[in-house]
This record gives sequence, structure tokens and C-alpha cells, in this order.
Amino acid sequence: AELLLLHGPNLNLLGIREPHIYGSTTLAQINDAARTQCAAADCGFDCFQSNSEAELVERIHRAFADKVDFIVINPAAFTHTSVALRDALAGVAIPFIEVHLSNPHARETFRHHSYLSDLAKGVICGLGAHSYELAVAAALKQL
Ligand code: DQA
Repeated sequence: AELLLLHGPNLNLLGIREPHIYGSTTLAQINDAARTQCAAADCGFDCFQSNSEAELVERIHRAFADKVDFIVINPAAFTHTSVALRDALAGVAIPFIEVHLSNPHARETFRHHSYLSDLAKGVICGLGAHSYELAVAAALKQL
């Protein structure tokens, strides 16, 4: 089985970006933890971060060609803006879990709506880097 972990815009700044909201864990640490979880479950792993909506859409298309079984995605700000990411995930029909470090529902109202949540297998938010660990564990359980 193959799991793909996707990260949207500004998540490359984790560790220095608003640590009171997003914590001090870096993206490399999050990716390493997920890679370790997948290896322990004998599941293939790849990860990708981009600040570009187009690159994320193209990475999702490639996931279909690569026969990825499950996607864990933190769409970051594109959560609240991107019909294109929604359509890409719907188009490839790869099951996915939506993840957020913060709890968008406890923040500004423009973060309350997600273009992806109703298509997701599940949504995990508000638990910092632990949100990712729980999402990867849940994905591995489904495979
Ligand atoms: C985020 C929440 C989004 O609202 C925000 O735009 C992000 C990060 C999170 O992980 O908490 O960039 O997805």
C-alpha cells in the first residue's frame, strides 16, 4: 500500500510560523514521524509540500497514476478557497483525511468553511502535530 502526505501553502514555515497557533514542530519532523509510522506498517510513503495550488493539483493527479491508496492532506489556506483542490481529489477518487494543526472552527469565520471536508473520510484538527499522527494512524488502519 502507498500513502501520500500533502501539505499546502506556508507549511514550509512550520516551527517559525506563528508558533502560538501552529506549535514549534517543523515540517521535516512531521514528515519523519509519518514516514516512521508508515514503515512500521510496511506501507510506502511519500510527502510533498507546495505553496502553489497548481503544483498540488498536479501532485494529486500523479498520485492516481502512481496508484496511491490514501492521501493525508493539510490543505492550509487552500482549505477555504480551493474548488480546484476539491475537484482534483474528487476526480482521482483516492480516499483522504483532512488535517489541521489548529482548530479552524475556533478561529476567524473565514476559516470555518472547508471546500474538502464533505468529501473527506475524516477530518482531524486542533491537536497540533498530533493531528497528523492520528490521521496517518487512521489511514493505515483503513488500508
Ligand atoms: C491550517 C489552518 C488554515 O486555516 C490555515 O490557513 C493554515 C494552516 C492548520 O493546519 O491549522 O495555513 O490548515
